[in-house]
Formats: sequence, C-alpha cells, structure tokens
Amino acid sequence: MGDSITFGFRNVDVEAKQAMVDDVFSSVARRYDLMNDLMSGGMHRVWKSAMVSALNPPRRGAPWRLLDAAGGTGDIAFRVAKRSGGHAEIVVADPNADMLAVGRERAEKLGLERVAFREANAEALPFTDASFDGYTIAFGIRNVPRIETALSEAWRVLKHGGRLLCLEFSEVDTPMLDRVYEAYSFRVIPALGRAVAGDAESYRYLVESIRTFPNQERFAAMIGAAGFERVSYRNFSGGIAALHSGWKL
Ligand SMILES: C[S@@+](CC[C@H](N)C(=O)[O-])C[C@H]1O[C@@H](n2cnc3c(N)ncnc32)[C@H](O)[C@@H]1O
Repeated sequence: MGDSITFGFRNVDVEAKQAMVDDVFSSVARRYDLMNDLMSGGMHRVWKSAMVSALNPPRRGAPWRLLDAAGGTGDIAFRVAKRSGGHAEIVVADPNADMLAVGRERAEKLGLERVAFREANAEALPFTDASFDGYTIAFGIRNVPRIETALSEAWRVLKHGGRLLCLEFSEVDTPMLDRVYEAYSFRVIPALGRAVAGDAESYRYLVESIRTFPNQERFAAMIGAAGFERVSYRNFSGGIAALHSGWKL
C-alpha cells in the first residue's frame, strides 16, 4: 500500500487516484466544454482569458515555447495561439487520450498548426530540462496525485527566466458568496452533471476535489518550495478561482 490521498472527500491510495481521475475525465470528455460553460455561467472563459493576458505571449521575435499541462481539450492552448498571432509553439500535455482527442479535433477545425498534443502525466514530463519559456496549468493541478512532484517537473522543464501560471478553483473569501457557492456546488452541479452528461458522480468528485485542494496561501507556499521565485496570486470572482504565478530565475 502507498500513501493515502484525497479523491474528492474519500481517502484513496496514492497509486489508485490517477486511474480514478482518468475515469472521471474519460467519462466527461465529450461534454466537457459544454459543461464548463453551463457550470460556470461562462465565467471560466473570463478567467482563462485573464490567465492568457497575464502570460502575454510574444507575437514575434525568438521562438517561444509553452507547455500547457493538463491541457485537456485545448482551451488555454487555443487562446495562447490566438493571442500570440500564431507565433507561440504550444504543447498540450495530458494523460487522458479522450480529452486530447477532443482537443485535436478542435485544433484541426481551427486550423492551428503550432499546437501539438502529447499524452503525458504532469508528474513525469517527457521533455528535456529547460525546454519551455512558459508553463500553464488550468483547473488541472488539483487532479494530480503528487502536486509537489508536478511542481518540481514544471520547474525542471522551464528555462531560467520562464514563468509558471496556474489557474485553479480556490477558497472563497467573500461573506455570503461562500454560502451561495457551497449550495450551488453541492446541489446544482451534480444535478447538472446528471442531466447533461448523464453522470452525477464525476461532477461530485470535481466539486469535492475543489474543497480538498490547498487554499491560496498554502498553494503559494508549495510553489515557492518547488524553487519558484516572486510567487504571487490574484483572486477571481471572490476567490472562486485564483491565478498563481511563479518565476524560474
Ligand atoms: C478540469 S480538466 C482541465 C482541462 C483544461 N486545462 C481546461 O482548463 O479546460 C483537468 C485535466 O487534468 C488532466 N489530468 C488528470 N491527471 C493529470 C496528471 N497527473 N497530469 C496531467 N494532467 C492530468 C485530466 O485528464 C483533465 O484533462
């Protein structure tokens, strides 16, 4: 038996968690983009666009490479491709073939050639040291069993001067909003999951995993412990989501 770790509100063996997470995303892959819009009332688009504005990828000059870990169906990659005017070379890395398949279809429709999709786990990236200028991970890190390992891997593959940006659900710090959000998360989201994707359990996991993820300050400390400097974060929508930033200097 390995160490115990959370899978939503349950404790599971750290070795078992990845397979359970993979089942969740294989189950939701085809409805993932629609469900994001429904669950967040479109807010995930605003948060993702803010992340890409913060990244501010160059539109010209020296080659600029981004690794979008837990990149799933390509939402961050497509925004970065657009914002860089097609200049950025982007690798979407995700262990889930079903999520990547949806991403590849979307990239083909959009005619994006500088976006590649790789089946890869954020804990063991198949890339050489210091090979990326930027590393993004959106709504992905809380699904990774060994978060510290993934952060060390992010540090390893970034060049000196490179930046990590992590968008994740976080701790709501606004009175009243926290209660409304709690009720919405535990009642409405699993019901929506059942109605739209025929799967309440996967959406229950998604909500529970948000509650067990470290809050803004604790997660910032973990990023610092992985070697990143100038670590900072900003809250979106009263802390429903937070964008963490760190530099490899
Ligand atoms: C909520 S989705 C986010 C997808 C995309 N980044 C977005 O914002 O739309 C979470 C993703 O994390 C991926 N994931 C799960 N375990 C992972 C791991 N160990 N390493 C990297 N990605 C993982 C899942 O396959 C899934 O595609």
